[in-house]
Amino acid sequence: MDGIDTLRGKYLESITGAGDESALEEIRLAALGKKGEISLKMRELGKMTPEERQTTGAALNRLKDELDAALRARKTSLADAALDERLRSEWLDVTLPSRPRRFGTIHPVSQVMEELTAIFADMGFSVAEGPQVESDWYNFDALNIPPEHPARQEHDTFFMHRAEGDNRPPHVLRTHTSPVQIRALEANGAPIRVIAPGRVYRMDMDQTHTPMFHQVEGLAIDKGISMANLKWVLEEFCRAFFEVPSVELRFRASHFPFTEPSAEVDIRCSWVNGQLKIGEGDSWMEILGSGMVHPKVLQAAGVDPSKWQGFAFGMGIDRIAMLKYGIPDLRAFFESDLRWLRHYGFAALDMPDLAGGLSR
Ligand code: DAH
Repeated sequence: MDGIDTLRGKYLESITGAGDESALEEIRLAALGKKGEISLKMRELGKMTPEERQTTGAALNRLKDELDAALRARKTSLADAALDERLRSEWLDVTLPSRPRRFGTIHPVSQVMEELTAIFADMGFSVAEGPQVESDWYNFDALNIPPEHPARQEHDTFFMHRAEGDNRPPHVLRTHTSPVQIRALEANGAPIRVIAPGRVYRMDMDQTHTPMFHQVEGLAIDKGISMANLKWVLEEFCRAFFEVPSVELRFRASHFPFTEPSAEVDIRCSWVNGQLKIGEGDSWMEILGSGMVHPKVLQAAGVDPSKWQGFAFGMGIDRIAMLKYGIPDLRAFFESDLRWLRHYGFAALDMPDLAGGLSR
């Protein structure tokens, strides 16, 4: 009996002192495992007298149950302590504000391209494209600007290099989007209704000029197209684009080699306290060049000018972006200054939509 009390004292103490589950398991094996102390004692019961066996057996069974219970209780309390410790060390304040995240913005040029594409699409124009490195033929000759034509000098052209001894005319960075007229007609033939927005290049740099800028070309060729159609299309465009109930356009006689007759178009506007107002006032702002496509241009594009005729126009995208959104300096458009981009840029979801009005 004494032996049993000693065992109880020893094991209860070590259970209380066990620091983790594996220590507890060791104790369990040492006491209750197949070769554990208590199991060995059980085996000794066989050698005892029946009376001894009865009392000792019962006492051993009680001890077994007691140690079993103590082991289980200790296991639970160790697990609770471990959980408490994890909760203390892995605590996280989910109510803290998240880290601020910067979002990019849509550049005003991209925004305006989307806007004008939506407006012209509504009038049945699709979008055409051409290369920015263009051949001399598409940029000039096909548009009725032969090699010695003075218009070539006005274009401040960037030329590409030719290999030494290669005397063909060098390619150019396209000076306008007009070559896309030729490419679109070659690809599609007549009738056609396209716009061609894109980058163009000229050697020029001041507050309203950058060496790279954007134009949108318009072209409509069909059987009975006249200047009246041109005027209506441009008026509709300006009303929708500038989001005013009415606009007034002024057609000034002009000259372009690729149109006959040609007109430059001004829009009525006013400056009030440095704020530009479209549609009213006594100032005029030039916004585009236009005219009836020259028969030689149609011919160069493989279209029979005795059957087909139509209008074309070319408009500065950056310029109408400055007008619409009150941006004073063109050069800032292409400086990638984040402060400027955040200020003048658009949220990605501000996609233009004619039904909802185009405004942000
Ligand atoms: N290509 C001309 C320029 O860059 C603009 C232009 C004028 C385009 C008249 C046209 C047009 O299509 O008909 O200055």
